Amino acid sequence: MSTADLALPVADEALAARLRARLALVEKALADHVVSRSPFVSEAAAHLLAAGGKRFRPLLVLLAAETGTHPEADAVLTAACVVELTHLASLYHDDVMDEADVRRGADSANARFDNHIAILTGDLLFARSSELTAELGADAVLIQSQTFARLVEGQILEGVAPGAGEDPVAHHLDVVAGKTGALIATSALYGARFGGASREVEEALTAYGEIVGTAFQISDDILDIASDSVESGKTPGTDLREGVPTLPVLMARRSTSPQDARLLELLDSDLSDDAALAECLGLLRAHPALDEARAYVVARAQEAKQLLTALPAGPARDALEAFADLVATRTA
Ligand code: IPE
Ligand code: IPE
Ligand code: MG
Ligand code: MG
Repeated sequence: MSTADLALPVADEALAARLRARLALVEKALADHVVSRSPFVSEAAAHLLAAGGKRFRPLLVLLAAETGTHPEADAVLTAACVVELTHLASLYHDDVMDEADVRRGADSANARFDNHIAILTGDLLFARSSELTAELGADAVLIQSQTFARLVEGQILEGVAPGAGEDPVAHHLDVVAGKTGALIATSALYGARFGGASREVEEALTAYGEIVGTAFQISDDILDIASDSVESGKTPGTDLREGVPTLPVLMARRSTSPQDARLLELLDSDLSDDAALAECLGLLRAHPALDEARAYVVARAQEAKQLLTALPAGPARDALEAFADLVATRTA
């Protein structure tokens, strides 16, 4: 059976089949959780869920649960829904902030409806995610609140200049750990916790999730520059056009070489013009900063894999290792 439909490379056929079966249950539950008493609200809330997405966070919950004594527990499925609903809600808000037109290969909610509807639908999805978290108990509610706070703080600080004397790259890495690393860390933590893994494994998986999540965001930002296609289901160059700082751009900005004068000038200019954006993308694609950022991602993936030595050897650990490798080398 093919594993092409799973966001993680899973070599073990039995594990892949189990994950696919559980993911189908998660998918059904997700569809139920975006239904509202109003057909219009249901349509807005189902819009991005139906458009696609890799479902990587719920899959990580299911996979982390495989390291425990009861991976098939209902709470694991609930936690998988919680993290995807939280992620989905954050995408509705993110596309408003980033003025993105395309998401998951479809019109973004702000483009399809308008900003107000996109924001409020995101709020509704956060509410649904909180409602479900309550089924997981008070500890999960606390974890979810803290995760959500880190995500939101990251999103806010992304648009705030680093403090006086603060290194822009360090500021950025802190932002990325919050906006993306936190929820992916919590996905791994929930899987370990509700699947019945040991405390040691839970801690290792949480740390793994934070690092892999950070690397995942950075590789996504590299693709925003390097990818020529719309394979990602998003528009390449969106971050650049909106002036959203990313690691490769911050690394290029460190350059003092006179050769980079034009690039630096473009980065500080209005990139709403298609020709200016294309020129800027061309210069960045050829810039050593892109490889520097790639090397950073590869190093983080290595670090994440190292943490997995705390897990019992087996197909689940192998899949988590393969995922760290995939993040480091992904091209779509
Ligand atoms: C998009 O996340 C936002 C980032 C953290 C880069 P995903 O790449 O997981 O998006 P979907 O869920 O597959 O659409
Ligand atoms: C996605 O961030 C939203 C969150 C991580 C909360 P980005 O703006 O960096 O990601 P894309 O490129 O739009 O998916
Ligand atoms: Mg965005
Ligand atoms: Mg954003």
